Amino acid sequence: MEKNPWREQFPQLAGKDEAFLDSAASSLKPLSVIAAVDHYYHDLSVNIHRGMYASSYEATRLYEEARAKVAAFIHAKEEEVVFLRGGTAALNLVASSYGAAHLQPGDEVIVSQLEHHSSILPWQALAAKVGAKLVYVPLDPELRITVDNVRSVLTSKTKVVALTYVSNVMGYITPLAEIIALAHASGAIVVADAAQAVQHLSIDVKCLDVDFLAFSGHKMLGPTGIGVLYGKSALLAEMEPIEFGGEMIDEVNKDRSTWKEAPYKFEAGTMPIASAIGLGAAVDMLQSIGLDAIEDHVVRIRRYAFTQLKKVEGIVIYNPTADTGIIAFNIEGVHPHDAATFFAEQHVSLRAGHHCAQLAIKALGIEACLRASFYLYNTYADCDRLVAVAKEAVRFFKGVGF
Ligand SMILES: Cc1ncc(COP(=O)(O)O)c(C=O)c1O
Repeated sequence: MEKNPWREQFPQLAGKDEAFLDSAASSLKPLSVIAAVDHYYHDLSVNIHRGMYASSYEATRLYEEARAKVAAFIHAKEEEVVFLRGGTAALNLVASSYGAAHLQPGDEVIVSQLEHHSSILPWQALAAKVGAKLVYVPLDPELRITVDNVRSVLTSKTKVVALTYVSNVMGYITPLAEIIALAHASGAIVVADAAQAVQHLSIDVKCLDVDFLAFSGHKMLGPTGIGVLYGKSALLAEMEPIEFGGEMIDEVNKDRSTWKEAPYKFEAGTMPIASAIGLGAAVDMLQSIGLDAIEDHVVRIRRYAFTQLKKVEGIVIYNPTADTGIIAFNIEGVHPHDAATFFAEQHVSLRAGHHCAQLAIKALGIEACLRASFYLYNTYADCDRLVAVAKEAVRFFKGVGF
């Protein structure tokens, strides 16, 4: 069996006879991340930015160090990195604060059918409130977002272009740099949903010139409960907080109060301190391995699985040309929930459903699908098992009358 140099770092896999193929939902967590979270709870367990004693200073140092690591990872300034509950909270903050202050009746927000619900619904809700309009980029025949198709819907009314960087259903990479240049030339800002990108692609927010970039910690080896909003300093500076409470204030008066500077004005109340510190450890691991090495592995593993799976009669694959580690597929005539249960019984963990991207599923003309997603700890043996169980599943479901 091939030796995967990273697998031993993931205790969730130890001693288990399982092909874990659901990393796009949430990645597994390495020992170093677990140790960082454990260190906080075991040795510190105190609040940050408040206590005037050694353990609080240390917790604050680790929390802010995590922010510095995330900032360096995406080539941002530390004050441009806001910690939030997750990618969803980050995208909601942009719509509820920046969006609410800038959108007028008749303005347009460009989105796509490939968006995760977290990247559409905040804009849909805001558009309904202010009388703005959502405009969908037409997708190409493969269901990709193209520069030309964004150009075709960009108008002087477009204020925001909110797009996924990597589709969580199709694994396509959006040509974001060209789209950002186009949007800026037309006076619009760009909000990128990088929840499926940041764990695969090296991102330099300055080169990209993206205005806002949102992602989750738990898909990039980090803990749950932590996500990041990157925003250009000037944009964060003009934005109002949407949550109010402890530690985000400058001065509180009876009638009117003032806020700290970004990022602190957006971090009200007690933050997920352990999760932020764990995210710092996750970034360390991604940096030390290198995203290029990780992506090289992911793409090779995915190609291997795809090449075998497409030969299985009765399997339909929706994203043969995916750019990263996702295979979206179905067993013809079989509901994906039934199929996923069969896979689970054979120790293959997959996702089944609409993947919080119902419009993408509708664009495919189906009701739901299976998704196998790969990350650094997956092996060729995992792929072999996926394919072997897919063959068994086709035989089994044919036998029960599909
Ligand atoms: C593309 C995309 N955007 C946003 C999210 C939301 O992230 P979270 O649930 O961590 O807030 C996800 C998670 O599945 C995602 O895949």
